Amino acid sequence: MYIIQVASECAPVSKVGGLGDVVYGLSRELELRGHTVELILPMYDNMRYDHIWGLHEAYKDLWVPWYSGSVHCSVFCGWVYGRLCFFIRPHSSDDYFDRGCYYGCPDDPMRFAFFSKAVLEFLQQSNKKPDVIHCHDWQTGLLPVMLFEVYQWHGMAHQRVCYTIHNFKHQGIAGVDVLWATGLNNEAYYFQYNRLRDNFNPFALNFMKSGIVYSNSFNTVSPHHAWEAHHTEVGCGLQGTIRENQEKYSGILNGVDYTIWNPEGDTYIPQPYDPDSYEVKALNKKALRDRLGLQDAPDKPIVCYIGRLDQQKGVHLVHHSIYYSLGQGAQYVLLGSATEPAIRDWFAHEKAFLDSNPDCHLELAFNEELSHLIYAGADIIVVPSNYEPCGLTQLISLKYGTVPVVRGVGGLVSTVFDWDYDEVRPKEERNGFVFYQTDETALESSLGRALDLWKNEPKYFKQLVLQGMAYDYSWNTSGQQYIDVYEHIRYKP
Ligand code: ADP
Ligand code: GLC
Repeated sequence: MYIIQVASECAPVSKVGGLGDVVYGLSRELELRGHTVELILPMYDNMRYDHIWGLHEAYKDLWVPWYSGSVHCSVFCGWVYGRLCFFIRPHSSDDYFDRGCYYGCPDDPMRFAFFSKAVLEFLQQSNKKPDVIHCHDWQTGLLPVMLFEVYQWHGMAHQRVCYTIHNFKHQGIAGVDVLWATGLNNEAYYFQYNRLRDNFNPFALNFMKSGIVYSNSFNTVSPHHAWEAHHTEVGCGLQGTIRENQEKYSGILNGVDYTIWNPEGDTYIPQPYDPDSYEVKALNKKALRDRLGLQDAPDKPIVCYIGRLDQQKGVHLVHHSIYYSLGQGAQYVLLGSATEPAIRDWFAHEKAFLDSNPDCHLELAFNEELSHLIYAGADIIVVPSNYEPCGLTQLISLKYGTVPVVRGVGGLVSTVFDWDYDEVRPKEERNGFVFYQTDETALESSLGRALDLWKNEPKYFKQLVLQGMAYDYSWNTSGQQYIDVYEHIRYKP
């Protein structure tokens, strides 16, 4: 099959979170299984260009109809660790991708509507005929409506769309001006309830709803979250739309690319290890302490948090886990960045306060290299999310022998099984600690159990670690599930 992935992120060139990892990892897996895969991405000015090979002069000039005129774009092509990527760069139209950021601009809906339109123009003007276009998240939600309402009458009748929702919270809400810009001119038609009209605001249109309504198949990124989004407020108002389209809905668990996330061959960590040489992890722990200036205290476990500092991630519990861990005699490392000013200021304040504490380090930045060392050097990771469609940090941690303490929501439920209380998995298949409530005591009870096991029952802690390392959360299974979806929609009329 010939598959094109369209997304706003790809690791490591333009990664904000798990979306980037998934877009890269899934593409690699599909190629390994013999399919032809290409990626189409925005060409941001702040991408990590040092991870792109062969990016020279423009591969193609493109004119994209927009408002009443045409926008000249260059499409560059390059290789990201073996994956063929096309990067779209508009030359005017408010320099949509020259903003020094990926997201967070007031005109984000317009930026990504333009991107989706440019992707379709690129496919059409290059005569590319993929079997499946796989779109990700709200940023690409308008692509299927444009494809099936407009472009299919202009030589693109055979393309099918798979649409993956990574985060229901961000849906892409916009006004009628987006319709005018993209050329979807029949306002009354598109604003109907069963098309693009937002379920809350009758004067707004919703990109994600468009992705659901117009795609041939849509899914979210774990089976449990698929259920939650369908049946609870976790669907953020799209529950009804899911219900009306449920015959094409599923939950497919994300995988982890073990060529990147694997302590056996990780070039960012000083001492590679595997389950047989698990004791070597202690040397990475020492390296982590040295790198971050923590005191050398082999009798203390290291608890960590890696992730965006956002309401989604349960920041109040992240914050509490710092003081609770320190109070229990553990060390604590946090790697996270915030976009919301209130959260950024709060953690900056905590960092200043804790800076002189030799058992604690807060790194308020995005640092891919450091994240590898933390996964390898920490003993326990906390993932106290309010909601979590899948979550990759717990999956990566398991591979690195770092025990996850998670809140039982979304993909965390599908992947972490409590050492003491899991009701389905036998003891020898359990891999972490789970709590359910959002209060501090709930976190304390399971983080406390983890610390207690580390301190008082090292033999069992090691057993738990090795059981976690034995889990296979690679793309093996999920890659096949996506292929099954593609095959299914490919032959549907
Ligand atoms: P989300 O996509 O909601 O942010 P995931 O758990 O799916 O959460 O994926 C997060 C990804 O981003 C992981 O690869 C994690 O290691 C990485 N990550 C998050 N924050 C940082 C950071 N500050 N520095 C480096 N990597 C980070
Ligand atoms: C989103 C979700 C996260 C998921 C990631 C990749 O950002 O918040 O749970 O793992 O996408 O699918």
